[in-house]
Amino acid sequence: MTVHGVAGRTVLVAGATSTVGLAAMGALVRAGAHVVAAGRSAARLEPLAALGARVEEIDLTDEGAVTALAAQLHADGIAVDGVLHLVGGWRGGGGIAGQTEADYRLLEASFTALRHVSRAFDADLAGSPAGRLAIVSSTVVDRPLAGGASYAAVKAASEAWVRAAAQGYAKQARDAGEPLRAAAVIFRVTSLAGLEEAVADAFVGLWEAGAPANGAIVAIGEGTA
Ligand SMILES: NC(=O)c1ccc[n+]([C@@H]2O[C@H](COP(=O)([O-])OP(=O)(O)OC[C@H]3O[C@@H](n4cnc5c(N)ncnc54)[C@H](OP(=O)(O)O)[C@@H]3O)[C@@H](O)[C@H]2O)c1
Repeated sequence: MTVHGVAGRTVLVAGATSTVGLAAMGALVRAGAHVVAAGRSAARLEPLAALGARVEEIDLTDEGAVTALAAQLHADGIAVDGVLHLVGGWRGGGGIAGQTEADYRLLEASFTALRHVSRAFDADLAGSPAGRLAIVSSTVVDRPLAGGASYAAVKAASEAWVRAAAQGYAKQARDAGEPLRAAAVIFRVTSLAGLEEAVADAFVGLWEAGAPANGAIVAIGEGTA
């Protein structure tokens, strides 16, 4: 895969307004990247703008809005080299019977946003000299609990989607007789608290020598496997 660092590349952080988004912004800016920070809260986007991001107030579950964002960036001469998808959410309940549809719909928004964003920017990532797509998933995919079944199911679906994107990158490169330049990677944590900088650094590391392979699942933090 192509490496040589993230400096000069443009990265979209989708759902950028939580602690890990701020950490990713910091790490990317320190490494010399340009950042487009997307979130649905104008107030929570302000600190990212202060750090130098182009901020976009958007509901990433709105397919039309995501398509329009991609079109606007392209019209402005911007193609993204990386997408870090952070839209999340958590709801649990008592066992399988306690997994409500309302909670599932809320959790599923994360996967819906992932589908919209990865579709809208697929051509950018595949066409980049070093395209990178990453999500933050959970160790519960391997060890699902009844009380978090909906969450585990959404994360499992998101992982399958990202691994499919990885297969797509590999196939495109193979069909074109070109070297593989893009990578889709899954980070897994048990709890994100205290690991925000580690996740941010791992994402920046996707452009560096020794980066995880296309399709890799990378555990971050103690107790992950
Ligand atoms: N927290 C953990 O312990 C943990 C463990 C394993 C995996 N993860 C995963 O790590 C990732 C980041 O975690 P997190 O706790 O930082 O996630 P999060 O707070 O649930 O979501 C990240 C950001 O996305 C924004 N967002 C939510 N819905 C959006 C939408 N429709 N359009 C645009 N922006 C939206 C949120 O902003 P607002 O809601 O303020 O608008 C939030 O700032 C998530 O994918 C999560 O599932 C987290």
